[in-house]
Amino acid sequence: MKLLLIVSGSVAAFKTLAFVRLARTAGMDVRAILTDGGARFVTRESLAALTGNPVHQDLWAAEESIGHIKLARWADAVVVAPASANMLARMAHGLTTDLASTVLLATRAPVLAAPAMNPAMWEHPATQHNIALLRARGVAFAGPVDGPMAEPESGPGRFVEPEALLAALQGARPLAGRHALVTSGPTHEPIDPVRYIANRSSGKQGHAIAAALAALGARVTLVSGPVTVPDPAGVAVHRVESAREMLAACEAALPADIAVCAAAVADWRPENAGVQKLKKQPGAAPPAIAMALNPDILATLAAHAQRPHLVVGFAAETEHVIRHAQEKLTRKGCDWVVANDVSGDVMGGAENTVHIVTRSGVEDWPRMAKNDVAARLAARIAEALA
Ligand code: C5P
Repeated sequence: MKLLLIVSGSVAAFKTLAFVRLARTAGMDVRAILTDGGARFVTRESLAALTGNPVHQDLWAAEESIGHIKLARWADAVVVAPASANMLARMAHGLTTDLASTVLLATRAPVLAAPAMNPAMWEHPATQHNIALLRARGVAFAGPVDGPMAEPESGPGRFVEPEALLAALQGARPLAGRHALVTSGPTHEPIDPVRYIANRSSGKQGHAIAAALAALGARVTLVSGPVTVPDPAGVAVHRVESAREMLAACEAALPADIAVCAAAVADWRPENAGVQKLKKQPGAAPPAIAMALNPDILATLAAHAQRPHLVVGFAAETEHVIRHAQEKLTRKGCDWVVANDVSGDVMGGAENTVHIVTRSGVEDWPRMAKNDVAARLAARIAEALA
């Protein structure tokens, strides 16, 4: 795992050095960003020696070497430790006043913050409000704990111990070491070199699932049909056009522990795609396009010699949603079917109402943002594999 560590100003920063050792022993590749405040408590040299990498501090110097966007994209996870009150305030309000805060705004990797400050500062409504904002946005927290402070007083605000910070980081990544294969988007089935048959799938749900699995620590291979949504961070993306290309890319990605087939794969393709553009002849009847059946990727993966441990399909239906999903589960041999009613504005929209159909029953989830469906599905997958 590529871990980006942000060290901001607190007397507890010395404990971060012990955390770096533990993280590296656990096999993590660590790069550090030091804020000006952080540099008053630990030196660049000790962080560089312990991480084995150059330390980044100055926004403009970083631009010359690796760049804040590259650094933000490089990370599989970001740990802010110690996170000072000032750092948390800047994170909460999206202020980009230095390299650390700029990278935090640019990254799509999961963020874990370990606050450290005086109890009065921790308990101040301003800090508590910032913490609530960050939590709502998905930032995870390790600590602070109760205990003696540097000043002769005691209370909440004490930095977590390095071992507890590592445990929090690993616990936030229950799918670490797992490989997940996700299909997303529509397929394009050529009629001739310029025309194709497609559907209205945007790839939003499949891409969100890939991102959510990656956020839980999985190594994710996303096989995507043509979409305009951006590639999720920290995910290996293979772009394909047709169903047959999608199947080949999926089989090439095996073995995998998890397969989530969210793509809206075309059921049929024109049997003989013209090598040249079909010409409109004056007075001639429109061409009859003979169709051939496409391979079923979900069913193929579910029956594969290298079958992923958990195979999840989708069922986009406009009627009898649950019954059709149950039939699909049996017919395709998958473990779960995520059933959704696409009679409304689901395709291309930002929200989804789904039902999780398994052999043991049906879970009805409320209507929610596709990102939330993805996060909940990823958490459910992690639970099933635990
Ligand atoms: O049969 P239907 O298209 O409704 O099944 C939907 C599920 O099957 C989805 O998970 C979809 O990704 C998958 N599928 C597939 N290959 C196909 C058709 C559907 O993987 N050719």
